[in-house]
Amino acid sequence: MLSLSVAAVSLLSLVDASPALDKRASCACGYKDENGRIWREAILADFTSNYANALSYFTPVTAAPTLHSGTTYYMSYSPNNVIQHNDGLGLVTRAFSGSPSSSNAISSAEIDSNRHDILYGTFRMRATVPTVPGVCFGFFTYYQNSDGSGVQETDIEFLSSDPVYYDTIHYTNQPGNVNGVTDPAAAKVVTTSADLTAFNNHRWDWVPGSSTFFVNGAQTAQITKNVPKIGSTLIANVWSDGGSGWTHGPPTADAIATVYHINAYFNSTTLSEATFNSQCVAAGRPAACSVIA
Ligand SMILES: *[C@@H]1O[C@H](CO)[C@@H](O)[C@H](O)[C@H]1NC(C)=O
Repeated sequence: MLSLSVAAVSLLSLVDASPALDKRASCACGYKDENGRIWREAILADFTSNYANALSYFTPVTAAPTLHSGTTYYMSYSPNNVIQHNDGLGLVTRAFSGSPSSSNAISSAEIDSNRHDILYGTFRMRATVPTVPGVCFGFFTYYQNSDGSGVQETDIEFLSSDPVYYDTIHYTNQPGNVNGVTDPAAAKVVTTSADLTAFNNHRWDWVPGSSTFFVNGAQTAQITKNVPKIGSTLIANVWSDGGSGWTHGPPTADAIATVYHINAYFNSTTLSEATFNSQCVAAGRPAACSVIA
């Protein structure tokens, strides 16, 4: 009898435990971050373990050659520059040679999230910066009206032509300048002690009224001006327009950023608080999942 009841108890706890595990795996009550904030949804893109699945959250961009004002180089985007590289995702601006023309453009790389409705969240990327001069490596949210006006954007950017590019990070809530002059309240340049050519965790937290930036979990900057307020796309890119003001370049060898993961925990304009709450209740109110990086 004793062994039977032990068996019955363990069977009961098994029956009880497995649905709870299933509920937790669903994260129906969202994700709790380091600040105790709850986010309803997540994009967990680990390019090291399942490259195709991770890339499925994003669309590699195709864009015809365009000429930025003030430059002589045309720039295009091609999905051929989004590659599996160094056990992760490689974003490549290709080596450029010859004379600039619309048929000889600088060929750059960009991935855009398939979600364009991201409104507030915490955004994380583990990556190395390109070491070849002449490119900008960006990790950012972006919104524009269909006519190109009304841009709202928060950027983490690395410029491989910066004198100490391996230590320098540019954080901006666009517009980062006023009448052509850098606005220190909207654009901050930070020198970090991290070696950016090695893998580091880059993050920002986007909430109403502030964008707060981190490297490896330690706060590096905060910007309270021009905080975006509209559903946006999450983007990573490596690009060069050959312009003297920002990217310099073009690169004379392939300039590559390697991304191990992009994890975004966010709210959206699509999943309302009411719907999220009823999904959480329907799942039996499991504890919120923890953010993993
Ligand atoms: C995100 O969603 C959670 C859960 O609905 C909510 O408590 C929180 O206030 C939202 N955050 C922002 C910044 O809107």
